[in-house]
Amino acid sequence: MVLQRSPKPLTGVRFPQPLLLDKNMARQNKDKFKIKVAKDGPYLISGYLPLAKEKIVSNKQGESVAWQKIKDYPLKENYALCRCGHSADKPYCDGAHLKSKFIGTETANKQKYNECAGTLEGPELDLKDWPELCALARFCDRVGGTWELITKSDDAAFKKIAVQQACDCPSGRLVAMDKKTSKDIEPDFEPSASLVEDSAAQASGPIWVKGGVQIEAADGFLYEKRNRVTLCRCGQSKNKPYCDGTHIETGFKD
Ligand code: SF4
Ligand code: FES
Repeated sequence: MVLQRSPKPLTGVRFPQPLLLDKNMARQNKDKFKIKVAKDGPYLISGYLPLAKEKIVSNKQGESVAWQKIKDYPLKENYALCRCGHSADKPYCDGAHLKSKFIGTETANKQKYNECAGTLEGPELDLKDWPELCALARFCDRVGGTWELITKSDDAAFKKIAVQQACDCPSGRLVAMDKKTSKDIEPDFEPSASLVEDSAAQASGPIWVKGGVQIEAADGFLYEKRNRVTLCRCGQSKNKPYCDGTHIETGFKD
């Protein structure tokens, strides 16, 4: 027998309401946040991870100087973010990866940051640097560049700018380290994700994942939890799942 759908409106049935959580509640959820990379598909986000859009603020010279939040997205328990760059419903996935036959093979080095980063020593600060992770957000260019500033870090003004630049680096390529304590200097981030908008480069950028959110590869590998990473959402990076700055070359727009 074929069961037909009831033509009558259902009465007395309570449908679940969308759950609205504030950021404090989201914070308590900390260990539940997860980003699963789907094979040749989207990023599957779970645990009510807050999602925002942030733009890179530039000075007159086109150098990146600050971050500005421009939008908050509704908090959802689970959502899928486009990874192929072709969704018509960005930032969310609409299944376009299937039509475009997206190949999203993860090619990033799976070693830990400290195993791969080189170190530049300065008088008061050291700089750890893993160039492969660079997302070309250009916070490290000002006042001679972060590397130059590190070598002059016995000057308080230069030291301050070096720390700011390293902390503003969204990809986590650069990490400043206090020489005396040997401790990494990291910005205080709550777990969240931000879609990067780079007006000076006239491109939309990666997903900036903050606060140590667990990212799981399509094959189940757990990437190192880091305070800052940038995930490719244009589909063109050669260092997937991480961004390698190709979105600027291709003028990716969301
Ligand atoms: S991602 Fe980091 S290292 Fe790369 S350009 Fe931006 S600030 Fe510099
Ligand atoms: S978003 Fe930067 S390379 Fe894809």
